[in-house]
Amino acid sequence: MSRQHASAALESIPCYSKRVGRRRFLCQLGAGAAVVAGSGFDVGGRQPTVAAAARRPQWDSRAVQSEFGLQEGLVYMNNGTLGPVPKRVIETATQAWKELELNPAGNGFGATLQMAEAVRKKAADYFGCDEEEIVIMPNTTQSMNTVAQGCHLATGDRVLTTDQEHPGGFRCWEYYEKRIGVEIDRVPIPTPPKSEAEIVDLLAAQMTPRTKIISVSHVTYTTGLRLPIAKISELADAHNCLLVVDGAQAPGALNINVRELNCDTYATSAHKWMLAPKGTGILYINKRAADRIDPLLLQDGNRFYTATSGTLNMPAVIGLGASIDFLTGIGKQRIEDWSMYLRQMLYDGFRAVPNTTIVSPESGPLASPIVSAGLESLSGGDVAGELKKQDIIVKVVKYGNRISTHLYNDERDVEKLLAAVKKLRA
Ligand SMILES: Cc1ncc(COP(=O)(O)O)c(C=O)c1O
Repeated sequence: MSRQHASAALESIPCYSKRVGRRRFLCQLGAGAAVVAGSGFDVGGRQPTVAAAARRPQWDSRAVQSEFGLQEGLVYMNNGTLGPVPKRVIETATQAWKELELNPAGNGFGATLQMAEAVRKKAADYFGCDEEEIVIMPNTTQSMNTVAQGCHLATGDRVLTTDQEHPGGFRCWEYYEKRIGVEIDRVPIPTPPKSEAEIVDLLAAQMTPRTKIISVSHVTYTTGLRLPIAKISELADAHNCLLVVDGAQAPGALNINVRELNCDTYATSAHKWMLAPKGTGILYINKRAADRIDPLLLQDGNRFYTATSGTLNMPAVIGLGASIDFLTGIGKQRIEDWSMYLRQMLYDGFRAVPNTTIVSPESGPLASPIVSAGLESLSGGDVAGELKKQDIIVKVVKYGNRISTHLYNDERDVEKLLAAVKKLRA
């Protein structure tokens, strides 16, 4: 595929097209916003409660939902496991795949590879860092493994983490524990904690002179707790530790900036909240920490293709670039505001359900677009099974159920879920 053809291919895709691209999509949202501002919800003509209307960000749910191909009638609230890919992203990736297959080696080491490589810059802009600090990866787990392998820990070194980590973020440290006698300190985190300071104090109390790594989630997969990464970075700096962050549950949901978080590494699975094709992820390695993290995989640098990374899924990664365009086209902060508005509605709704324990933070800086709750005398599996019969998809976690609210959800989804839960409770 010639350079000219590659550019023509991009132009034919709505995400990139000058004719129907970002401007039109933003216009659609803008028009919707005016409707919302004038008449309340755009959800079937019902009027919002006064409190909900006051908090409601300007948002056109229908315009956003039309971008997705979710099964008709499905209330999808398990984005924390896997997110749906917007239709325009599927088109971009499919188009790139078709182009690749016209001349696999020619394009795979030519125009298609260049398009995939260009996604590093988009990811860097999205994360708020430099391109050289970005590695395109298949997921969070492999990014965490890569970082852990590159840290070259020795017997007796300690890793400080929490009891809320996902296996994808802690099995890498357990490997060292088993193989070479690295010690792991797992700090129990309250469900929920009272404040950011409480979390930092709990971690600080476990620091030792042998602690080399602090490895925590940005947002926990269990309860959606948002950890104060910037504050934890001060602790890491004071003890000359590396701060390794598992960000599987944050970018795409939250308006993140890795410089502000001030961590050494940050890994995410783009196939969750970033709505990118499955098997895509982003790893950030702060350049100040690069000489302390030297994994096998990155021996030849961070570029998309090197002799030590090998060939990867180019169409999917080109799709990741289109997902980033999609998210930034709407606005990172607008998406966070919308998702947080829905999560608050959900949280407040759960509070009114008797015999229910909510383990997620009430609101404020510790909260994220994930709410987890348990219904007394009903297992998470029972609840998820009953909800599934009504086409409502939630995740089972050890505390009960985890519910994710993202940009394609709206008030009707939250109300349908709450009504179903109340009925179950009754
Ligand atoms: C916090 C956290 N870390 C890591 C992972 C693993 O993600 P992946 O399978 O994409 O590597 C998950 C998946 O749910 C997660 O929630």
